[in-house]
Amino acid sequence: MAGFSILLFIATVVTVVSGIRDDFLRLPSENVEGTRWAVLVAGSKDYYNYRHQADVCHAYQILRKGGLKDENIIVFMYDDIAYNESNPHPGVIINNPHGRDVYKGVPKDYVGEEINVENFLAVLLANKSALTGGSGKVLDTGPNDHIFIYYTDHGGAGVLGMPSKPYLFASELNDALKKKHASGTYKSIVFYVDACEAGSMFRGLLPEDYNIYVMAASDVGEGSWSTYCPFQDPSLPPEYDVCLGDLYSIAWMEDCDVQCEVVRERTIQALLLGGTHVVEFGDIGLSNHSLFEYMGTDPANDNRTFVGKKSLLPLSQRDADLIHFWEKFRRATKGSPRKAEAEKQLREVMSHRMHIDSSVKHIGKLLFGVEKGQKMLNSVRPAGLPIVDDWDCLKTMVRTFETHCGSLSQYGMKHMRSFANLCNAGIQKEQMVEASSQACVSIPDNPWSSLHNGFSA
Ligand SMILES: *[C@@H]1O[C@H](CO)[C@@H](O)[C@H](O)[C@H]1NC(C)=O
Ligand SMILES: *[C@@H]1O[C@H](CO)[C@@H](O)[C@H](O)[C@H]1NC(C)=O
Ligand SMILES: *[C@@H]1O[C@H](CO)[C@@H](O)[C@H](O)[C@H]1NC(C)=O
Ligand SMILES: *[C@@H]1O[C@H](CO)[C@@H](O)[C@H](O)[C@H]1NC(C)=O
Repeated sequence: MAGFSILLFIATVVTVVSGIRDDFLRLPSENVEGTRWAVLVAGSKDYYNYRHQADVCHAYQILRKGGLKDENIIVFMYDDIAYNESNPHPGVIINNPHGRDVYKGVPKDYVGEEINVENFLAVLLANKSALTGGSGKVLDTGPNDHIFIYYTDHGGAGVLGMPSKPYLFASELNDALKKKHASGTYKSIVFYVDACEAGSMFRGLLPEDYNIYVMAASDVGEGSWSTYCPFQDPSLPPEYDVCLGDLYSIAWMEDCDVQCEVVRERTIQALLLGGTHVVEFGDIGLSNHSLFEYMGTDPANDNRTFVGKKSLLPLSQRDADLIHFWEKFRRATKGSPRKAEAEKQLREVMSHRMHIDSSVKHIGKLLFGVEKGQKMLNSVRPAGLPIVDDWDCLKTMVRTFETHCGSLSQYGMKHMRSFANLCNAGIQKEQMVEASSQACVSIPDNPWSSLHNGFSA
């Protein structure tokens, strides 16, 4: 009997101690119960998308300085930038024209092809058996824990990009959040999404009572913005020919770099006041929480005070790759092989864009008639409704298009709403097959339209 109680006592003590972990020793004002966790995702690859991985590395540095531990920060980053042959400073990634290296020390939990929908959802749901490759770190959270998720990449209506196809669909993301909620393994989640049409991932889908607060850089039908790009002010160091950051991401992170004293008092929402356009979803009440609860604070910044935000210049995310190709072309010596190659790249990317745009338009006309085609493709559902109800139909439409017309590629994500509208109008797969094969007699032969990267849906 006595032995049993002692065992019980020890078990209780062990549970209490391991539950408290290191967050125990804090000033009362800093007392945050539970552990802070973070998942950081750069959803793209390739040097012309430099900025997404730069954003993620920068976010990691902020969280580390804020006191989060590596074991609680899970990083998804393709890792083809730091040592890319185009990087003028091998092993270094910057996120600001005058910024320091943000690459050093970033854990490589999921890199290359390990960044895909399955692994991302497995991490979210702490389902290790569903993982393929990677460090095996998952959101192994408890009921008092705070989770910060940050995603930066290209997006389209109802989808976020992943470097390995397919895209992450809104239906899958919200199903996973629903499961996470049902598992009772978090106190609250703050989710920052920097991508075109990011709001479409949540609008009409995310319930308000999940203790999940989402702040998105753009709503359905809206673009998001890159910044620190060539041709902009402040000018980049001359050796750079790519955008170094994204507007919304830079807005919250540079605030955090300089003003972390303020972070302690400031709320999640206030951090972004100062001109950056955002949209909110889920449990809006959480926006009153202190950012400190999610990101911690850097003691070195304790005495800083809030200064007004400087304005950043936007460049459409969808055009950031064009700027890179143009810069590469402009800088190359006349008559050099590099110039010829850059010109070829620029032509290819332009012609692929035109091919995708005209094919989608043509399909619209074939399905709805010359008069109504464009109107049907662009139609907008009433506020509060998701972009589509039948997500399987949406995937089928995308696949059918890509089978006949080639890969949408990151630019083509802008047409996701058109595909959703085909479903909303009751178009059947057979009709889409016929229209696509009529619109695209052959798949153009260039790297932008190849099918070897797999289907987007
Ligand atoms: C560098 O980026 C290009 C695309 O811009 C990509 O094709 C290449 O694989 C990358 N190189 C490395 C070493 O990752
Ligand atoms: C974890 O993933 C595996 C493989 O995808 C799946 O069969 C299993 O149901 C998942 N477990 C949970 C708890 O979701
Ligand atoms: C945040 O708190 C303030 C004051 O405490 C309150 O007036 C406001 O309604 C709250 N906002 C939300 C969205 O809960
Ligand atoms: C902040 O100010 C206090 C009081 O002036 C001082 O004791 C402390 O060392 C300062 N902290 C930092 C990090 O500069």
